[in-house]
Amino acid sequence: MNHNELLKKVNPVYFSAKGCLGLLAETKEPDIMRFYNEVDKETITPGSIDINNPITKSWVVSIEVRYNTWNVIAQKTDCPNIVDLPCGYLPHCLKAAKLNKKYYGLDLPIVIEEISPIAFKNLSDAEKNFVQYHAADATNYISLRNALKDVQGKICIITDGLLGYFNRYDLKAVCQNIHRLLREFGGCWYTSDYEFSDLMAATYALVTGGKKSDMLEANTSGSGKIADADNSDFIFNTGTLEERKNFIEECGFNVKTFRYSDMINFIPSLKENPELMQKILSAYQDFEGWILTADETAETQETEIPFAQNFSVKDNVLSISISGRLDSITAPELLQKYEEQRAKNIFDEIHVDAANLKYISYAGLRALKIMQESCNFKISNMNDEVKKIFEENQEKI
Ligand SMILES: C[S@@+](CC[C@H](N)C(=O)[O-])C[C@H]1O[C@@H](n2cnc3c(N)ncnc32)[C@H](O)[C@@H]1O
Repeated sequence: MNHNELLKKVNPVYFSAKGCLGLLAETKEPDIMRFYNEVDKETITPGSIDINNPITKSWVVSIEVRYNTWNVIAQKTDCPNIVDLPCGYLPHCLKAAKLNKKYYGLDLPIVIEEISPIAFKNLSDAEKNFVQYHAADATNYISLRNALKDVQGKICIITDGLLGYFNRYDLKAVCQNIHRLLREFGGCWYTSDYEFSDLMAATYALVTGGKKSDMLEANTSGSGKIADADNSDFIFNTGTLEERKNFIEECGFNVKTFRYSDMINFIPSLKENPELMQKILSAYQDFEGWILTADETAETQETEIPFAQNFSVKDNVLSISISGRLDSITAPELLQKYEEQRAKNIFDEIHVDAANLKYISYAGLRALKIMQESCNFKISNMNDEVKKIFEENQEKI
């Protein structure tokens, strides 16, 4: 496997962001088109999106609303630094740089490696000073902190289309990490993920005349497929609004809300159909996004062991010991080293010592599965938490 294949294998979820760009390309917005024209369209077959199909139209409108809401938040915030987590393949950096605000685009390595050069090609020399892209995993604090190492002043983190991809265990890690960043830098966390699936369902009902519940079901099963994981425990996808709110408050955030209808009063792709646009905009009065700040009295979890891996081969057995976190950032490193060992050694058994493995995500499980499928495989000394994740999710990956 080459580097790119390896990243795709452990992080199949990047597909979802290509899909968002593909849908937004239907709006023909010039900045979107600049990025769309240059990305590899492996997962968006040009011509396959039929804008005249009402279902597709409803997706386009919903994603367009989320995209424009992001741009309005960037404009409104008094924070000089905007953290786009996850940035996907969207041209938000062009908007932030025009506002003279520092832009930090963060996403999984597979996304950043492709989008960062495209973005810099589309920025003027002066704008380039405002923009940075970094590979980061939202569950991995060290990767987030490294990405923000030169930040001065408050941060405004904007999250569109992320929380629905996490089970409670990973979601807790993401929330703890963001909490910690807000405690350190000050600022706030905007997210449209709270009620976005409901907004999408309402848009679908108005554009197609169909039932909201059909769209909610399609979203739930669709995102499960995209994330390549069982999503029954993903509360920002399958859970109730109350569960989402309780969860976020338990993570130590103060919750304020914004209404979509206060953020946007025009939907460009519906300009030929003002009646429908008005109906949709008035429906958006019922939907909220969140503005979260860190409750100063809540505890922040502060210990994280850096990732480390050791390999040795003896008597046809490859022994690997892993410390720290095995996630979207470190799983490709493990697989890369594993491939190197395979190229230079002969072994028919793998023993993984997980005594110092503190955390494993789906990406980590996928990396271990690749090893498991190639050799006899044993893993020992897992702590209770890692063991639970490993045993419960083995069959689902
Ligand atoms: C639905 S897309 C949204 C991207 C972008 N905000 C947009 O609206 O197009 C989901 C994004 O989440 C990213 N993602 C998934 N898991 C992540 C993680 N653990 N850390 C950082 N990004 C992640 C994916 O790579 C993908 O770009």
